[in-house]
Amino acid sequence: MTLWSGRFDTEPDPAAFDFGVSFGFDRALFEDDVTGSLAWAEALGACGVLAKEDAAAIRKGLESILEEGRRDPSFIAGADEDIHSFVERKLVERIGDAGRRLHTGRSRNEQVSLDLRLYLRRRLPLLQHALVQLITAFADQAEGAGEALMPSYTHLRRAQPVLVAHFFLSHASALRRDFEKLEAARMEADALPLGSGAVAGTSYPIDTALLARRLGFSRIVRNSIDASSDRDFVASFLFAVSLAMVHLSRIAEDFIIFTGEEHGFFELADASATGSSMMPQKKNPDPLELVRGKTGRAIGRLTGWLTTLKGLPGGYNKDLQEDKEAVFDAERTLASSLTATHAVISRLTLHASKAASAASGLLLATDVADYLTIRGMPFRRAHEIVGAMVRRLIAEGRDFSSLTLKEWKEASDFFGDDAPQAATALESVYAKRTSQSTNPDAVHAALRECRDWLEAVTPTKVPDRGPR
Ligand code: ARG
Repeated sequence: MTLWSGRFDTEPDPAAFDFGVSFGFDRALFEDDVTGSLAWAEALGACGVLAKEDAAAIRKGLESILEEGRRDPSFIAGADEDIHSFVERKLVERIGDAGRRLHTGRSRNEQVSLDLRLYLRRRLPLLQHALVQLITAFADQAEGAGEALMPSYTHLRRAQPVLVAHFFLSHASALRRDFEKLEAARMEADALPLGSGAVAGTSYPIDTALLARRLGFSRIVRNSIDASSDRDFVASFLFAVSLAMVHLSRIAEDFIIFTGEEHGFFELADASATGSSMMPQKKNPDPLELVRGKTGRAIGRLTGWLTTLKGLPGGYNKDLQEDKEAVFDAERTLASSLTATHAVISRLTLHASKAASAASGLLLATDVADYLTIRGMPFRRAHEIVGAMVRRLIAEGRDFSSLTLKEWKEASDFFGDDAPQAATALESVYAKRTSQSTNPDAVHAALRECRDWLEAVTPTKVPDRGPR
């Protein structure tokens, strides 16, 4: 029996009906569906549409359903079309006719939008919490690295020396933007759709402002037609997840490269690596590769969802049902990828001397040119002189550290006795002046700022966000 069988002569053809059944996945919205119905029954009671006794019976019935579903997830099962039909069937089974009054003035079109908004509101903080843990791992690594040096790269070619801490904090910076994007998606979902009816609004005198407050929404949707077809908040969520996955993928890529034999700046813990069935020497970064691989899945969910939306006429269309699997899959993908990345990053060790030796040598060329410029030579001229020095050093298989004072002065009489000391990786980082630079004092301040941010966004206790 469906919620809409009255209009039809025949039973639905399973081939058509089963295709549209969403209970297999929208059961994750159980909690939210009951929460929404409790508030709706209260609103119907408050405006006199429901008799006091009926409203009370519905409340008791829904509370017992919620309690049972929380205690025993296997209770949320049956041949129902969707979670809304399931809750209503259980309610009528428990309290009889009063249960048949719950859906007065309401449509599943607005109900499902409400449920998904409530779902995102309670589940987004879990993703944010996992992000905070990963950012903390990067901050811890930055702190542990002290003044250790490594090369930075552009075009994947050695560019300039940086602090290892600066590199770790670069990833923390991107992840902090993801935290904010998830927050923005949560704010976008923060509008009450109830009162929209199926598409034109409701004919019952519901106090929607009160209902919004009761459900913790800060505003009410502006237009009922738009409300029944709007899933922009889903698109924003999927974008935030996709971009976070893109960041995790780039993190994965950096550490796949830097833990490999060719670089060897960091060592993967045995616990977060895998071996080869054939080659005994292998230590593979499988978790990182899988994070990189799963990024395609998240972007696919976003692309798929935008493609679903683009052809829809106004008002509700059944196509919108595709939103849920996209949200659940994207959420699961990001959550597991954050956990896996955290496991790898938090156990990483630094090979400080290997990283430092890669940070010395010819990548000090910019600093040597800056030395000349600071002493009055036009930068273009300095660039040319140092370029010629580099050309010669490469031909002779040497670097700046092997130059004698005489050779420095031959290259340019702007070079003083302090030239050899100026051309070191540590001098190079200390020479940087801006707050976002790799200057050790700036990095120290950046780490402190990151810790302050972490403290500000971390609730003292992570609340239980309920089942999916
Ligand atoms: N399962 C549906 C969905 O996810 C619920 C809304 C159904 N509304 C309708 N008119 N068929 O969108």
